[in-house]
Amino acid sequence: MSEANLGGRFTFAGTSLTVNRMGYGAMQLAGPGVWGPPRDPDAAVVVLREAVAAGVNHIDTSDYYGPHVTNQIIRQALHPYPKDLVIVTKLGGRRPPDRSWQPANSPQELVAGVHDNLRNLGLDALDIANYRVIGSGLGTEEGSIAEQVTVLADLQRKGLIRHIGVSNATAAQVAEAQTITDIVCVQNNYNLAHRHDDALIDDLARQNIAYVPFFPLGGFSPLHSSILSTVAEQLGATPMQVALAWLLHRSPNILLIPGTSSVAHLRENLAAAQLTLSPQTLAELDAVAASTVH
Ligand SMILES: NC(=O)c1ccc[n+]([C@@H]2O[C@H](COP(=O)([O-])OP(=O)(O)OC[C@H]3O[C@@H](n4cnc5c(N)ncnc54)[C@H](OP(=O)(O)O)[C@@H]3O)[C@@H](O)[C@H]2O)c1
Repeated sequence: MSEANLGGRFTFAGTSLTVNRMGYGAMQLAGPGVWGPPRDPDAAVVVLREAVAAGVNHIDTSDYYGPHVTNQIIRQALHPYPKDLVIVTKLGGRRPPDRSWQPANSPQELVAGVHDNLRNLGLDALDIANYRVIGSGLGTEEGSIAEQVTVLADLQRKGLIRHIGVSNATAAQVAEAQTITDIVCVQNNYNLAHRHDDALIDDLARQNIAYVPFFPLGGFSPLHSSILSTVAEQLGATPMQVALAWLLHRSPNILLIPGTSSVAHLRENLAAAQLTLSPQTLAELDAVAASTVH
C-alpha cells in the first residue's frame, strides 16, 4: 500500500521517526475489559500482521494492557520488527487484580514500567514512551508532572527511551513537560464529539508536535450521531470511517491509532484514509460536537 493510502506521512519533530498518519492502537487485543488473555490469541496475531502488511508502521500499546499480554502478543506477531515500525508505549499506570486502572507514577514504578515494556516487547530501547497522567477521575486533572517527566528524561539519557510524549495531559502539563525535555507527541481523548482539546491541537500543530487522539471512535462508548450516519450514507462509507477521515482532515499533526480486535474492522478503518471530505461536509460534521452534551 502506498504512503498516500494511509493518510500521508508525519515525522516526529526532532527525530528520525516517520510514520504513516493512519496507525493502529493495540489495546483491544488484550481481550474484554483490556484484561488478557484474549479468547483467541491467534486472531490477535492475525490483526497485527495484517496491519503491518497493509503499511501500518505506528502501533500504540502499553505494558499495562492485559497486563503484559498486549505487548507479548505484539512481540509474538511482529518480532523481529520491521525497521520502519514505531512502537509507542505508555508509562504511569498499573492494573491490580481487581482490574481497575491505578496510577504507578513513583520513580521506582516508572523505571520498572520501562523494563516491563522492554522485556515484553523484546526491545533494547523504546521508540517513544508517553507519561500517562492518571488522576482520581477519568479525565485530565491539573497538577505538576515534573517529577515523572524528569524520571523519563533520565531514562532517555541512559538510552532506554528514545523520545518522550505525554498522555491525558492538560495544556499546562504539556508546557511544563517541555521545560524538562522535548515532547514529540501528546495522546489525549479526542474525537468528533469530544473536542475539548481543539486549542491544544492547533498549538501543537504550530510546533509540529504530533497529537494522537485516543478513543478516536468513541472508545468504550462508540460514537453515535444521526449527522454522522447521514454523512456516511451520502459518502457510501461507514460512520466509523467518516469519524476517522474527519480526524485526518482536522489537522496535519493528528496521527490515528484506532483500536480493533477484528480484521474486518481494521480493513474498514484503514480504508478511511481514502475518504475526502468537502468543506461543506466538514462544516456539517462540526455540528456533531455542538449537539453533544459534554
Ligand atoms: N492514552 C490513553 O490513556 C489511552 C486510552 C485509551 C486508548 N488508548 C489507545 O488508543 C487506541 C484507540 O482507542 P480505543 O481502542 O480504546 O478506542 P477506539 O479506537 O475509539 O474504539 C475501539 C472500539 O471500537 C470498535 N471498532 C473499531 N473499529 C470499528 C469499526 N470499523 N466499526 C465498528 N466498531 C469498531 C472496537 O471493537 P472491535 O474490537 O470489535 O473492532 C472497539 O470496541 C487504543 O487501542 C490504545 O492504544 C490510549
